[in-house]
Amino acid sequence: MKLVRSVKQMAALTAGYQQQRRRVGVVPTMGALHEGHLSLIRVAREQNDIVIVTIFVNPLQFGPQEDFKRYPRSLTKDRRLAAATGADLVFAPSITEIYPAGFQTGIDVGELVARWEGASRLGHFRGVATVVAILFQLTQPTNAYVGQKDYQQSVVIRRMAADLRFRCRIHVLPTVREADGLAMSSRNASLRPAERRQATVLVQALELARTRIQAGAGDAGPLIDEMRQLISAATSARIDYVAIVHARTLEPQWRLHGALAILVAVWIGRTRLIDNILVDVP
Ligand code: PAJ
Repeated sequence: MKLVRSVKQMAALTAGYQQQRRRVGVVPTMGALHEGHLSLIRVAREQNDIVIVTIFVNPLQFGPQEDFKRYPRSLTKDRRLAAATGADLVFAPSITEIYPAGFQTGIDVGELVARWEGASRLGHFRGVATVVAILFQLTQPTNAYVGQKDYQQSVVIRRMAADLRFRCRIHVLPTVREADGLAMSSRNASLRPAERRQATVLVQALELARTRIQAGAGDAGPLIDEMRQLISAATSARIDYVAIVHARTLEPQWRLHGALAILVAVWIGRTRLIDNILVDVP
């Protein structure tokens, strides 16, 4: 497996793949790879000739009070995992390779970033959309793979890729979970043992919502109240938002009808966790 650290070398390899008409599958990550990332790499391996995993902890998507410095970095282990899962190439550029002196441009994905993660983390999606556009430009993917775990991010990346006419199909793959249901995330490692036990309230609240909707619940308001109560029963939990939204526009839905996404963001101690499920109500 190749390790590529410079933009110049990446661009040269990409030109070669294009010339040879290879199907290129790209999995953008910030490293600290876990089974969630590996599930994306496995599907990419099945569907492409060349599989590229990008590893870049993107400073532009972290707020000033966020954990950019503390974000886990483990390139040696990540390279091993990526290789063992079938990646052909890890692209792990430095910050100055991606953002050389004088860099100014940012991509703003309009109303999709106004709410939820975008409201709690100002500038976050501008950072995500900008770096993903640069990574797509440098790797020219035929297919790109993202996780449903970061649902709003997946919607934003789809919109950006469509609006900027990237000729790339975006695949959104299911959330990989721990045995007790907690969505895998590199941030789970910062939970203390008691917090780790309480962190399952996110998935429990989502499962409660699914059960109520399947039983015919029609209004979002009372259901959100019930979810909030369940989450608040955990002593280290502090709710950021609990929302039931249209799966494509991300606008709040008060009638439980159609394609819905149920989103939760909760602080467990000093760690902020997100999770979601999709529910289709005919
Ligand atoms: P990161 O958090 O490293 O996640 C990389 C990809 O893995 C994302 O598409 C994310 O949704 C997916 N992923 C994370 N946990 C998952 C899980 N439990 N199951 C399935 N997929 C999961 O998301 C980012 O990095 C960055 O914002 C990035 C898109 C790379 C831009 O910097």
